[in-house]
Amino acid sequence: MIETIEERRQPALSAVKRNVERPQPLSALGALAVERIPVPIAELDRVLGGGLVPGSLVLIGGDPGIGKSTLVLQAAAALASERGPVLYVSAEESAQQIRLRADRLGVLSENVLVLSGTDVDAVLESATTVNPSLLIVDSIQTVSVDEITSAAGSVSQVRECTSRLMQWGKSRGIPVFIIGHVTKEGAIAGPRVLEHMVDAVLYLEGERHGHFRVLRAVKNRFGSTDEVGVFEMAEVGLREVRNPSEAFLEERHGGASGSSVAVTIEGTRPILVEVQGLTTPSAYGLPRRSANGLDTGRLQLLVAVLQKRVGLALGGQDIYANVVGGMRIGEPAADLAVALAIASSFRDRPVDPELAAIGEIGLSGELRSVAQIERRLGEAQRLGFGKAIIPAAAAKRGTTNVSGLRVIRADTVAEAIEASIGGE
Ligand code: TYD
Ligand code: MG
Repeated sequence: MIETIEERRQPALSAVKRNVERPQPLSALGALAVERIPVPIAELDRVLGGGLVPGSLVLIGGDPGIGKSTLVLQAAAALASERGPVLYVSAEESAQQIRLRADRLGVLSENVLVLSGTDVDAVLESATTVNPSLLIVDSIQTVSVDEITSAAGSVSQVRECTSRLMQWGKSRGIPVFIIGHVTKEGAIAGPRVLEHMVDAVLYLEGERHGHFRVLRAVKNRFGSTDEVGVFEMAEVGLREVRNPSEAFLEERHGGASGSSVAVTIEGTRPILVEVQGLTTPSAYGLPRRSANGLDTGRLQLLVAVLQKRVGLALGGQDIYANVVGGMRIGEPAADLAVALAIASSFRDRPVDPELAAIGEIGLSGELRSVAQIERRLGEAQRLGFGKAIIPAAAAKRGTTNVSGLRVIRADTVAEAIEASIGGE
């Protein structure tokens, strides 16, 4: 398209009267107190950054069937009993189906109002009359506005609906939750196209058939990101897991080969998780590398380091790595635990079950120091671990003395393997 720019005769600069604001020194600005509505579900409250901000728009995303509707219905009931009516708009399920779920969850409340409808403007009209303490729209992919001809779930529909919901909430100071399914096909009109529009994005993760669910903030204008909440899917809905490390390690078979324990930090909390590795001779051509709960690229890198720097002959092996419990680990501090699990399976010798492993692995096979080492060690000790293996470099950066915990320092992954599994 060709744009033509018309030359206009500018009035003399001095003649223009503008409302010019003066910049102010940072120190002179008053602190902005953000009001927050506490949410009576602590794990959700934490991920939100300590309560709901009035007028904020929060996107809750996740795979279909993971438990999003369950979570918001529980939140609705909890909030309604303290703050007055919550309006739950369902465009996916009938009011009857929601009632069935509420029955199951034991949260039949007269303050949770249910509306089944797909037209955003009609929904908002209704919501204006109700004036709820929270508005929930389940899901953003199934609602639409009249003016846009494309089907519900298309990018333009999803964007426009979100923008109208946002305007409505912001102008009234009412928080709005929207639910979005993550679609397998790269999320064309999924929650990703909305991430930049909303105030906070929370993803509910986990394995559909496993019992743990992790709620993770990937964006939060009013709080820290990477904060997680941990839940367990039970018969009566999502139960909060206050002690995630304990829960994740519950079913561990200490003494089996191919298992080790990593200490990760999620937001402000150290969490211990079991990492499993399995190596088997591959039957055909290209060996498999498969990771669950961690990045496949990272697994490949660690395998390469084990081959080249430690001398493990993993070339003809299929290699699987798994984080138990449905947690996803993103931080490299878990590298050492992954490497130990793989080496342990390959040599068929168990890692000392009393040992927790902490450390990032570099390409030369060196162990690199990680943040907040003392906190990690503290959590390992609290859970009854007797030993921890850490990068020698970490000791130079902070204290690593935790009473009751024997701390083993290693410079390289080869040394760490030697110390925790033994040589060949
Ligand atoms: P749901 O909240 O409908 O998932 P989403 O809205 O993310 O699609 O929950 C899906 C699964 O959770 C469903 O397969 C059954 C299970 N579930 C329980 O195990 N216990 C419960 O109390 C409830 C309500 C659901
Ligand atoms: Mg649902």
